Parts: sequence; C-alpha cells; structure tokens
Amino acid sequence: MINISNLQKHFVSKEANVHAVNDVSINIGDGEIYGIIGYSGAGKSTLVRCINFLEYPDSGSISIKDFGTITSENGVLYKVDGENRTRLKEKDLRKLRRSIGMIFQLFNLLDRSTVFDNVAYPLKYTGLSKEEITEKVDNLLALVDLSEKRDSYPSQLSGGQKQRVAIARALANDPKILLSDEATSALDPDATESILKLLKDLNRKLGLTIVIITHEMAVIKQIADRVAVMEDGKVVEEGEVYEVFSNPQANITKRFVESSSGLEKINKLIESRTIELSNNASQRLIKLTFTKDSVGEALISKVSRDYNVDISIVLANVDIVAENALGGIIADISGDPDKVREALEYIASNGVRVEAIER
Ligand SMILES: Nc1ncnc2c1ncn2[C@@H]1O[C@H](COP(=O)(O)OP(=O)(O)O)[C@@H](O)[C@H]1O
Ligand SMILES: [Mg+2]
Repeated sequence: MINISNLQKHFVSKEANVHAVNDVSINIGDGEIYGIIGYSGAGKSTLVRCINFLEYPDSGSISIKDFGTITSENGVLYKVDGENRTRLKEKDLRKLRRSIGMIFQLFNLLDRSTVFDNVAYPLKYTGLSKEEITEKVDNLLALVDLSEKRDSYPSQLSGGQKQRVAIARALANDPKILLSDEATSALDPDATESILKLLKDLNRKLGLTIVIITHEMAVIKQIADRVAVMEDGKVVEEGEVYEVFSNPQANITKRFVESSSGLEKINKLIESRTIELSNNASQRLIKLTFTKDSVGEALISKVSRDYNVDISIVLANVDIVAENALGGIIADISGDPDKVREALEYIASNGVRVEAIER
C-alpha cells in the first residue's frame, strides 16, 4: 500500500543540522495496521509527515497504491511513470493528500465550529450538495458513535470524544490510508482503549490501512500487526509485533519491552539492594521469557524437582501482545552449580529464553 525507500530528511537550523529521517525503507501492506514506535525526537512525526508530503523529503521515494510513485531529489518532488519523470503537479499533490487522512495528539479541531461543521469542513469545495454533505457527515458521526454530539462544540467534549470527531473528519474524503500521530497520547487509559478499539474496527470494516506512530508500547501491542522501531532517524528493528517484542534484538526495543512488562523493576531492586546478588555460582538471578509456544509454571516445578534446585520467583508478568501471551519471570535459582546449569539448559530446550542477570 505504501512503499517507502531510502527516505532522507534533514532540518537545518541555526543551532544544529538534524538528520530527522536517515535512510528509511519500509513497506506497509494494504489493510494493515502498521506501528512506528520510538522515543521523542526519533523522527517518527517527520517520517509520517513525508507520507502525505506535509514535509518534503530531501531524497528517496514513496509509492502509494492507486496513486503511483513520487521521488524527491534535493527536496523537489517528481512523479514517476515507468521511465518518465515529471515534476509533481500541485493538483496531484492535493489529490494525494485527500486520499490520506491524518489525526493528531491535540485533535486540531476548530473550536468555534460545531462537531458537525468540523467533520463537514474537508467536504467544502468537493462539489457535493448540502444534502449530500449532511448525509455523509451524519453517517461519519454514526460510524464513530458520536451522533448525539452533532451540535455540540469541542469545548463540551471529553478528550476521547474530540478524537472521535477528528477521526470522522479525517475519514470525510474516504481515504484508504489513515496516519495517526500520537493520537492517544493525550488521553486517559479508558479513552485510549476505546479509540484504539475504534481504529481497529475502522481497519476491519473499511479495509483502512492505518499507520500509527507512538512512544507507547501499550498502543502497539494492542492494535498493530507489524511494527518498526525508530531511533535517531533510523528504523533499527522491524517485523510482526509478536515476533519483535518476544525476541527483541536492538537495545531500544528491549527497553520498550521491559518498561511495558514491569520487569525492569528488577534493576531498581538490585540498585536499591532490596535484592542481593551473590557471585556464588550456586545462586543466580535469571530472566525467563515464555512465548506463546512455551508453557510456564509446570516447567518450573518440574525442573526444581528433577534437578533438585530451588527456584524462587522474584517478579513475574504476563503481557498480551498482538492477542498472544508473552510471559516473563525473574527468578532466583540455587543448588549444585552443575545441576543449576543443567536445569537452565533444560528450560532453554523447551523454547524458553533464559538470560542471566548480571550485577
Ligand atoms: N521543522 C523542524 N525544524 C527543525 N528541526 C526539526 C523540525 N521538525 C523536527 N525536527 C527535529 O527532527 C528530529 C525528529 O523530530 P520528530 O520527527 O518530531 O520526532 P518524533 O516524532 O519521533 O518525536 C528532532 O530532533 C526534531 O527536533
Ligand atoms: Mg512526534
């Protein structure tokens, strides 16, 4: 649906020269919910703003289904048709932007307009009659479950309701793609949950391709199919959400996974000496990661019996990622050093990832 290749974007300011997007290539499938996660400043917003050319990339190309390929050379946009390359026309750019909806953290609603008028706004100058616009807006409000707020003003709505208005407005021109830039970051957990559920419903009902950028793991693990992890303008890791989060490779991905599971508390416990680590080979602190293909507690009790080792659980957590369980246990294991080693090997041979926690 969206193929991005070798995209680059710099910003030059008085203070610094920022390489906001550094050679990013990703393919986003038709009808997919694609997550992009990274900390603040990673380049996520710049990357998605390049998809609808709110930002012109310095170089690289973007292909969008039913529209074609646009390349940038030194910030000048060209439409590519086979061998031919022509300057992108303003008219084509407008058409492209209309086929891509976008929602933001702070909703960007018109405060002096009613909910109805906010949603109707993008339908101005589209040639639709007043009756057609009314019908369309009422349908969109029903779709986002906000019909009863039709004549309210944004100030009379909760954050979650404001985002529903913004979603309805973003869908006014029947886009095939919705870009979401931290759309739930200003919302409380309940509103976040309901907006994510709405996005998932829209994805299924309308076949809408959704690109969702966030700094929150909770968002990705709840609705994304695939994810790209961004750091310093680069995509450092990419793949199916469950695969990436059950076996993270990049350090930053590991940090996201740990912060969401709560297992990172172990580091604080060690720092505060609530947990003492010994250098003793007969006692070790280990982290076990159970994925959907491996089973938990039964294995631990079997191992402690069969190898005559003591395993005491310090922290444990089960996360639901992309609708599958992902479990983590931090445990203290002690016993005869050879038996401890054999026990850990046995656990690992059952599809559980075993990592030693160092002091
Ligand atoms: N218009 C701009 N002018 C100068 N620097 C910018 C501009 N937009 C973004 N940046 C810089 O580019 C980097 C990436 O920003 P951004 O894409 O907003 O990251 P994110 O959305 O991941 O927080 C940051 O260092 C930011 O300060
Ligand atoms: Mg941003």
